[in-house]
Amino acid sequence: MTNSSRMIGEGKGDLPKIEVQTKFSDAEIYLNGAHVTKFQRKGEPPLLFLSEKSRFEKGHPIRGGVPIIFPWFGACEGKTGMHGFARNQTWELKEISQNDSGVIVQFSLPDSAESAQYPKFSAEYFVTVGEMLSLELRVTNQSQENFSFENCLHTYFAVGEIGAVSVVGLKGAEYLDKTENFARKKETAEQITFSSETDRAYLNTTGTIEIHDAKLKRKIIVEKENSASTVVWNPWIAKSKAMADFGDDEYLRMVCVESGNIAENRIVLPPGKTSSLKINLRSTSLDK
Ligand code: BG6
Repeated sequence: MTNSSRMIGEGKGDLPKIEVQTKFSDAEIYLNGAHVTKFQRKGEPPLLFLSEKSRFEKGHPIRGGVPIIFPWFGACEGKTGMHGFARNQTWELKEISQNDSGVIVQFSLPDSAESAQYPKFSAEYFVTVGEMLSLELRVTNQSQENFSFENCLHTYFAVGEIGAVSVVGLKGAEYLDKTENFARKKETAEQITFSSETDRAYLNTTGTIEIHDAKLKRKIIVEKENSASTVVWNPWIAKSKAMADFGDDEYLRMVCVESGNIAENRIVLPPGKTSSLKINLRSTSLDK
């Protein structure tokens, strides 16, 4: 791809950040968490939401963009903190290259005291910035035993106004409703809309999901590979107020539709095998 550039510089909180520009789009990625904080196609509003109240501190997750959730999702018995350690650690930048799809930025997760508690593994992350944003998390089991883990690309999408948003593609799926103590339910709606706190883990959902945004007149398309779970989250009013790194009214302008493998969809990876979780994020006009 011609007309592309990339620069490594200082982001917020003096954290190292990579800026990528292509003829189609701009993106920003922090090494802290290998965290994509921005993807914006030329002439369009940003695809990803990023909180104005986010912390930008080494060792702490960024609020917005795409946190990498690994090796556990949510709370985990015997572990400290939510959503694993991958989003808190500084990933190593391995290579920046390009092909017909765009500029590819490759990271790897360094060994740490936290990773040493698991069977030996390697984790690599590929961010491709072009006409669309493609993200791939590859985990290889380098040990002699099964490696069991959860993963999730916790995409925060920017929307015009949450009341004008619907999520399409989950009808008929079973989900765990975290707002009702993980009660198991079945989705009956063709289009999921938002009028209160929503926190659901949809299971066995491998198909493409769409986010229809009537205010921005935009359709976001989430294409998944090797993702059996889809999490749909909006914190709504009370939870927004309770989160120190999230603005009180910011729930109006975001929705999380996350792709991964969690709960009973967790991955059990045999020795020597690699698991690849991949998403392609595209957007079109809502009329198309
Ligand atoms: C979602 C969970 O994926 O992440 C929610 O389903 C959680 O329950 C949210 O509140 C944010 O989590 P955190 O740890 O980033 O505040």
